[in-house]
Amino acid sequence: MSVSTMGINVKKVAKSRINQLDPNNIQFGKLYADHMLVAHYENGEWGQPEIVPFGNLSLSPATTFMHYGQAIFEGVKAYKDQDGNPLIFRPYDNWKRMNRSAARMAMPDVPEEIFVEGMRQLVSLDKAWIPTDDGTSLYLRPFMIATDEFIGVKPAEKFTFMIITSPAGPYYAKPVSIYVQDKYVRAFPGGIGFTKAAGNYGASMLPTAQIREMGYDQILWTDGFEHKYVQEIGTMNVFFVIGDTVITPELSETILAGVTRDSVITLLRNKGITVEERPLSINEIEAAYEAGTLREAFGTGTAASISHIAKLTYNDKCMELPAPENWTVSEWVKNELNNIRYGRTEDTHGWVVKA
Ligand code: COI
Repeated sequence: MSVSTMGINVKKVAKSRINQLDPNNIQFGKLYADHMLVAHYENGEWGQPEIVPFGNLSLSPATTFMHYGQAIFEGVKAYKDQDGNPLIFRPYDNWKRMNRSAARMAMPDVPEEIFVEGMRQLVSLDKAWIPTDDGTSLYLRPFMIATDEFIGVKPAEKFTFMIITSPAGPYYAKPVSIYVQDKYVRAFPGGIGFTKAAGNYGASMLPTAQIREMGYDQILWTDGFEHKYVQEIGTMNVFFVIGDTVITPELSETILAGVTRDSVITLLRNKGITVEERPLSINEIEAAYEAGTLREAFGTGTAASISHIAKLTYNDKCMELPAPENWTVSEWVKNELNNIRYGRTEDTHGWVVKA
């Protein structure tokens, strides 16, 4: 029987934990909704997905992903429209990106019926957990791990795919301060920089801890050859507004193809704003800053949404960016995007999927 014909088993919680959710105090990634989706892959095929109460896993200490890092994930968000209907933003794009990560990490494709249909059913079941204030959402975290019980190094044959969900407020409470990294490297051509592999984030922990000690929120990674061209921020893609042009590094093997990045580019271009996807050197950014033409800088990501950059430090040079009243491009696109996500404006791009 194929996954599409076997449906999804649902085991509901005996008692919801929804009273733990305080809509006035939502912190990112602290509280998880009542249910989660689980599907196992074995003998070359996916078994029947299940929606079960959120809870711990029981795994052998020899489980492959814990040792060799065959683990990938995604980030998606669900919102509620004015009538309380749950809407998921661009799940098909995250599904496709997950399968690009899976291919590079020698993991199986996750079928649409499990990723998208499973997500819709999960969100629909836990729709009471979707907060409604502007800037809030239900963050959806699909992920896949290799689950062979074997500590020899070889591509695994057994995998588990899951989706857990968590009510989310803003990822960054205020505009971020960014340190331009020119010592450590995030990604090289031929590597896994374009994937959402857990190891990409694991390798960023030490450099991130170091810049946090110095009072910064995040790293802006530069290319591994010359440390000259900007790539992406630890949790976001990056955009600079120089003069009347919006510039973002072009996608490559070393940059994650952000779904929010793509949405922002599409909306800006539709508005008639020039967006250039091209190599952007830190020297060009510095020169624009000196000339007074660096008007705005912001990061984009599912978790972070659109986050303004307040300050950018490169070596000893600290570039304070113009104050909030100048953030015309990023504020416009943020509002436009939110209007689509919350169903307040017509979705002409087919981005919003009803749960
Ligand atoms: C996201 O934006 O969804 C991410 O996965 C980035 C980060 C929270 C790791």
